[in-house]
Amino acid sequence: MAQAEQREAWGTRIGLILAAAGNAIGIGNLLRFPGQAANNGGGAFMIPYLICFFLFGIPMMWVAWAIGRRGGQYNHGSLPGMFDRMWASPLAKYVGVVGLTLPFCFVLYYTYIEAWCLGYAWFSFTGDYLSTPGHAVHMTNYYLEFLGQAPSNSYFSGLTAAMFFMAITLILNLFVLARGVAKGIELLAKVAIPLLFLFCVLMAVRVFTLPGEGTALEGLSFLWTPDFSRLGEFSVWMAAAGQVFFTLSIGFGSLESYASYVRADEDIALTGLTTAATNEFVEVIFGSMIAIPAAAVFFGAGAIERVAAGGTFGIGMISMPEILRSFPYAPFFGTVWFLLLFFAAFTSSVAVSQPVLAFFQDELKATRNRATLWLGVLWALGVIPVILYYKYGFLDELDFWAGTVGLAVCALIEVIIFSWIFGATRGVQELNRGALFHVHAGTFKFVVTFITPVALVIILGGWLYGPVIRDKTLTPKPRVAVWIAEPAQYAGTLEPQEDGVDSGDAAFAKEFEQSLKDLATQAKADGTLKATVQLGADGSVQVTRLSATGSLASAGDPARLERYLRGRGYLYKEKPSPQAAGVAVEQEVPILVTVLYTAWHIWMARAMMIGFTIFFLILINIAWRRRASTAAAEATV
Ligand code: PHE
Repeated sequence: MAQAEQREAWGTRIGLILAAAGNAIGIGNLLRFPGQAANNGGGAFMIPYLICFFLFGIPMMWVAWAIGRRGGQYNHGSLPGMFDRMWASPLAKYVGVVGLTLPFCFVLYYTYIEAWCLGYAWFSFTGDYLSTPGHAVHMTNYYLEFLGQAPSNSYFSGLTAAMFFMAITLILNLFVLARGVAKGIELLAKVAIPLLFLFCVLMAVRVFTLPGEGTALEGLSFLWTPDFSRLGEFSVWMAAAGQVFFTLSIGFGSLESYASYVRADEDIALTGLTTAATNEFVEVIFGSMIAIPAAAVFFGAGAIERVAAGGTFGIGMISMPEILRSFPYAPFFGTVWFLLLFFAAFTSSVAVSQPVLAFFQDELKATRNRATLWLGVLWALGVIPVILYYKYGFLDELDFWAGTVGLAVCALIEVIIFSWIFGATRGVQELNRGALFHVHAGTFKFVVTFITPVALVIILGGWLYGPVIRDKTLTPKPRVAVWIAEPAQYAGTLEPQEDGVDSGDAAFAKEFEQSLKDLATQAKADGTLKATVQLGADGSVQVTRLSATGSLASAGDPARLERYLRGRGYLYKEKPSPQAAGVAVEQEVPILVTVLYTAWHIWMARAMMIGFTIFFLILINIAWRRRASTAAAEATV
């Protein structure tokens, strides 16, 4: 029985395609992709990446659109209702909870990253990090102070700035969502996607016309030169699979939700393919033409590996601003870069919120404004620990469970319900109804019945074996970090060196770090060593003052700290900066060694995810009970 009431719908076909592209194109394309590719064998990464793209990227994309459009016909915009209509079991709707918890937990941290981009766009525009009289801003500390991770206050005091940009980001998202599918999301996509392409082109042209140490082409060749020896590594395959899911927005019920606003006989086969193709275009072309080539130009080809090792955030928020600020029109290109990231993220964050919003509207019969309000309250509450406990790995924990493992789990559940329970034959008919091009039924059925589920099981098994069992990621580990106490007053950087370190000292450094972690674990508390250290250019280290607090109170032995710093090869390097010329060279560096006890916060993150799951399960139960009693009442009338 199709619902009689009017369901929202996309305004135009082009609007739908832009919205779907906006859903898929995000931080994953411009930062995560270059980071993953560079760290997993460069050009060789593209082989597993493409294989995964065809084995389950495209098939899952179609599965998602078919499930979603079908759900929309019964007025369901989220997985609980969609599964309920495909699988005649009272369990189906509860299994669909993955389509609420996962996107919701994902959006909590994804919008926080979105807020960083907005913040950095503003800081670029105002020139905040571009130069400080006398000394260049230390970009790593700048970033980590912004997020409350660095123990210093040279550039930001507290989390006020981060919270401010988060609040603005949240309000912008809720504003668009409250306007609805056609007047909100679709309109946003129509503005943001063309802008995004324009910004991509501007950035790529800028990077490829920059003079510098190296050339942009060296960056491209780093990214694209295949290192076939990495193909045997299972972790490379998992990284590729994870990237395909993440970038295509597969396995969260988000595309499904968008598809639920497509009319019953309107094409989804070509739309799905177009979504995937547009996403890949931005990912493979612009994802590889901006960040890594820029690093090659600025730091020279030899340094790309180090930049790439900084990972997604290191590349985007530390290396890129550092590169951009040294070139002409820095405020302009800095703003363009971060606005580009912001818009890419914005069109994805509204997409990933839509399932929960649709659930409130369709299943709990809330008005759109009411639903937006509920979502806003949950979102604002949920994001607080993400901000406060960033330094304890709260965000990373959500990213591992929701953004990495969760995507694959949800996709596996979906493909099993679609091809084994609902039936691949009915599934492909659903997909091809009204299609502008017909997907080959036999091939599609074979892939989604056998290949995709098996591939997904292998990947999940790999995660279970690798990170979970072998690397014991499930056990929270304390973190140790070494900092300059007042980075704004020093023109240089403190970096550990690999070479020239005595092997005995290096071994000692490892032991020492472990002993700090053990102290934190025993005391269940953080600790700090505060020292003034004379660092010689020859690697000599002398601690002239030292105090120890918190769980490290008993670790305040200057001789051991000296040996530790020597063992890690810490060198304070002056940065030759034009402004700094003539400023006395500072040799005494105030150093902080911090240990963070992370267990509380990691468990809190897990408890939060479980808590939201239970909460959504209860809501599902309420919604279906209510529906049953309304149906019963109608039957007796
Ligand atoms: N695909 C988005 C990106 O590349 C992230 C996303 C994942 C959005 C899942 C929606 C659902 O950044």
